[in-house]
Amino acid sequence: MTGQKSKDKHEKFMKAALGYARKGLGKTSPNPAVGAVIVRKDQIIAAGFHRKAGAPHAEVEALNRLQGKARPGDTLYVTLEPCNHYGRTPPCTQAILEKGIRKVVVGMKDPNPRVKGKGCEYLSRQGVEIVTDVLEGECRRLNEWFVTYVTKGRPFVIAKTAMTLDGWTATSTGHSRWVTNERSREWVHRLRNQVDGILVGVGTVMADDPLLNTRLKKGRGRDPVRIIVDTHLRIPVNARVLGHAKGSETLIAVSEDVPSRRLGRLERNGVSFLTCPKKEGRIDLRALMDMLGKRSITSVLLEGGATLMGAMIRPGPQPISSARSRAGFIGLPSRVRPCCTATSRTFLLRSPVSSSTGISP
Ligand SMILES: NC(=O)c1ccc[n+]([C@@H]2O[C@H](COP(=O)([O-])OP(=O)(O)OC[C@H]3O[C@@H](n4cnc5c(N)ncnc54)[C@H](OP(=O)(O)O)[C@@H]3O)[C@@H](O)[C@H]2O)c1
Repeated sequence: MTGQKSKDKHEKFMKAALGYARKGLGKTSPNPAVGAVIVRKDQIIAAGFHRKAGAPHAEVEALNRLQGKARPGDTLYVTLEPCNHYGRTPPCTQAILEKGIRKVVVGMKDPNPRVKGKGCEYLSRQGVEIVTDVLEGECRRLNEWFVTYVTKGRPFVIAKTAMTLDGWTATSTGHSRWVTNERSREWVHRLRNQVDGILVGVGTVMADDPLLNTRLKKGRGRDPVRIIVDTHLRIPVNARVLGHAKGSETLIAVSEDVPSRRLGRLERNGVSFLTCPKKEGRIDLRALMDMLGKRSITSVLLEGGATLMGAMIRPGPQPISSARSRAGFIGLPSRVRPCCTATSRTFLLRSPVSSSTGISP
């Protein structure tokens, strides 16, 4: 087979494996979303994906679906390098060898510095043919939150803001519910369904009294941990986000200045506190991100408001150091086209205005 032909073939089947990986998105944390297919004579004969932490890895799911042993020429395509260590499950390299697979095509190496390359090296030493970095960019993109988490020990942050076409996040009367429409809010709930945490400042809780849970069209979805930065514990005791603490956790980041007797009352309602150092009189956001990472919170949806958003993206040693924007113009007449800020993932929908920014630390 020519080089181009085999590249096309590898990409075709890696795309299929990526499709399976996407089925696990938002369900596997703190593990990555991974997909795998086994190909015989240009046909997919088995497939699998990682469903949740603790469940079999994608390649093992696919191998379990393969009837009998692998035949010569059977190839395993997997979006992430197979693991070579005992974690919650045995090493995938062992399952691959036991099934008799002699060729493995890998999307990306495991970004975890302690694991990186070891699975491929081990299989190669056992005589398995290895092809790496097939659609590496797409595989990395799918798990960008996992890459940030395992390489930096803190969550991947997606900043979302609803704004008017002239760049405001609320109207002149202070109204910000809603400057967007139902379709864009639905999109936000789908995002909430995929992240481990939602982060807001206490100003937003006081102004909007939000629930900060996931409300999908089809059912409830998964509620992320609600995280509120509140240096002096100003949050009203009857805030809805506190009353709603039963479904999932509510975490309030406070400074060491807040006396423990004030925390006790809310703790009894199921709220947890993170006592953080201060920086310039407010919660040190970098320290907060590190603390969230230690709690296995791998991704956070930053939902505002403007003060917290500004602090998170301010140049300097802030939690978010590089930005990629994802702009959406919703509700424009069809002759109007976006002319600014839109970069890699622009969407154009018809309805009132919305925009969001995807930011990776
Ligand atoms: N359009 C949108 O997408 C959107 C989204 C959310 C909110 N909003 C609107 O935004 C408005 C609220 O925004 P806001 O700016 O007043 O509130 P905010 O950003 O939600 O909260 C700011 C507060 O967070 C606390 N905080 C603690 N540590 C901080 C740090 N390191 N950096 C920044 N803040 C820190 C501060 O209070 P302490 O000093 O007391 O800790 C600060 O006053 C409301 O009108 C709301 O409706 C709009």
